[in-house]
Amino acid sequence: MKNIAIFASGNGSNAENIIRYFTGNAYAKVTAVLTNNPRAKVLERAANLGVPTFVFNSRQLNETGEVAAYLHRHGIGFVVLAGFMCFVPADITMRYEGRILNIHPSLLPKFGGKGMWGHHVHEAVIAAGEKVSGITIHKVNEFYDEGTIVCQKMCTVLPDDTPDSLAARVHALEYEWFPKVIEEEIIKNY
Ligand code: GRF
Repeated sequence: MKNIAIFASGNGSNAENIIRYFTGNAYAKVTAVLTNNPRAKVLERAANLGVPTFVFNSRQLNETGEVAAYLHRHGIGFVVLAGFMCFVPADITMRYEGRILNIHPSLLPKFGGKGMWGHHVHEAVIAAGEKVSGITIHKVNEFYDEGTIVCQKMCTVLPDDTPDSLAARVHALEYEWFPKVIEEEIIKNY
């Protein structure tokens, strides 16, 4: 059984979906939710589902190695970033090389990089007149949004889409595919 840690900074609907998917799963289980944001809704979601949480600050992530140490101490074998707003330092990306996935709400390399998160992504997609958008699930290395792409799924962008309506369609893809892709990657790593 592999222990999964999820990093999230906000709402955490993907985190909740992943926790539920792996409840009773034969290969893995979510055993920790970590966040840099003490007010993140993901903390409430994790607590309701009985998953331990760890709130950390930037010093603990980037300077003292406390976040890396937490993962090690809790026997975490796989890391998932689901709406995590901080850069992940090398002490984590190197230890978990090939075992750390992120989800991005566009078809990378389009609409990725700095400033491209949440509604900013969907606004930019609509402003560019794109006909399709979607999700990208990729491995995480020390470069922002640049790890190997594991899976992309597309959805249409409708002429009357707002950032919210497009976000809802993209979220539906995230809920459907992210847990399955995590499971496949964990099985490959066994
Ligand atoms: C998702 O759209 C994900 O692609 C992006 O951040 C969003 C997080 O949503 N990285 P939620 O917090 O899981 O609801």
